[in-house]
Amino acid sequence: MTEIEDMAPSYPLTRAAGCPLDPPPLLGELRERRAVSRVTLWDGRTAWLVTRLEDVRQALRDPRLSADVRHPSFPFFSEGQVATRDMLESFIRMDPPEHGRHRRMLVPEFRVKQVESMRQGVQETVDQLLDEMIAAGSPADFVAAFALPLPSLVICQLLGVPYADHDFFQRCCAVAFNRDSTSDEIHRSNEELTEYLAGLVAAKAEHPGDDLLSRLVTNQEAPGHLTRRQVVNTGLLLLVGGHETTANMTALSVLDLLRHPDQLELLRHRPQLIPGAVEELLRVHSVAHNGLPRVAVEDIEIGGATVPAGDPVVLSVAAANHDPRVFDDPGRLDVERASRGHVAFGFGVHQCIGQPLARLELQVALATLLRRLPTLRLVDDSLEDLECRHTRTIFGLHDLPVCW
Ligand code: HEM
Repeated sequence: MTEIEDMAPSYPLTRAAGCPLDPPPLLGELRERRAVSRVTLWDGRTAWLVTRLEDVRQALRDPRLSADVRHPSFPFFSEGQVATRDMLESFIRMDPPEHGRHRRMLVPEFRVKQVESMRQGVQETVDQLLDEMIAAGSPADFVAAFALPLPSLVICQLLGVPYADHDFFQRCCAVAFNRDSTSDEIHRSNEELTEYLAGLVAAKAEHPGDDLLSRLVTNQEAPGHLTRRQVVNTGLLLLVGGHETTANMTALSVLDLLRHPDQLELLRHRPQLIPGAVEELLRVHSVAHNGLPRVAVEDIEIGGATVPAGDPVVLSVAAANHDPRVFDDPGRLDVERASRGHVAFGFGVHQCIGQPLARLELQVALATLLRRLPTLRLVDDSLEDLECRHTRTIFGLHDLPVCW
């Protein structure tokens, strides 16, 4: 046996120095070596890592893999993150039929048609942020000026959360979804965020507004379909899931396009390519870079390996989205590629409910930037000084200096 076949490397894996935007090289090696590998989690347990696209899609559809965070063998990516158990007591970490009952309550809010009705509002927010960035003058930090506030403003408006509180909830999320945070820190930030949302939901119960949280209180809590705690947890999941993911994807997309002027030019001349470019950028960057955690509740065969009941499993969306069996030269950004079938939004029953909104925000942001700031460029072309969010649950950039 070679060394790589023998070992169960520590997981999450590390990206190569100098190539912070590429998935860890070992991830590709593991995928090419075998369909399912063994990796070692922070607590010394081994988990099964699934890396090929077809296996990942099949596994995510299989009810023998549970997303229930309450299962004692559920895999976490750091000691501190075990504390997110309470916070994650929302439908992203539930199994059918409980999961479906909760998810269905939100489906009407995220239907493509419903989300399309938000286009005008998203466009206005994008224009306003750009006006402010331009008025403040070149250079700017694109993350602080645009990528982070855009999805925060959009999700705040949808939920009925005051954007004025964004510093507070972004700070809580930064602690909760960082592998370097201790369990005490995570507990404290979860409690603060839960208390904050509980206060907001209580106020909405008194005076409902035209927002998603008010609709949950009125249509679901009042008739007894959800408890107050469940309304708060759902709000928490949407607030957290709705801004960090899209913010990081926006910043990475702009960075990648500015580093590939040929691709940028294609989009400038053929804006109809933008929706496909967004799919390609989602695939290439796969910001849920640690993968999707599950636990086997029955013996299950994945990619020829038998995973026994009770074992933790990680579905690597980053490895799957770079699977050369499906995507030719997968590391290359090709905005004309038909990158349908990627799993950047997951797959199966838990597939991202917010994806129509994320797509809308990314498409409007890129189209508007291309149109309004044609001279946008990076302050520094090299990746050397790039500060990346390596230890965060969602990969991204701390800042992105740009000028125009
Ligand atoms: C580029 C942006 C986004 C990415 C890459 C992304 C990625 C993902 C992934 C990979 C999952 C599956 C998790 C799993 O199976 O364990 C997921 C689920 C979820 N996402 Fe997103 N997401 C994005 C944007 C959003 C937005 C904008 C919202 C809310 C407005 C949102 C809300 C959710 C929710 C509620 C779930 C749980 C769905 C379920 O369990 O049924 N996401 N997302």
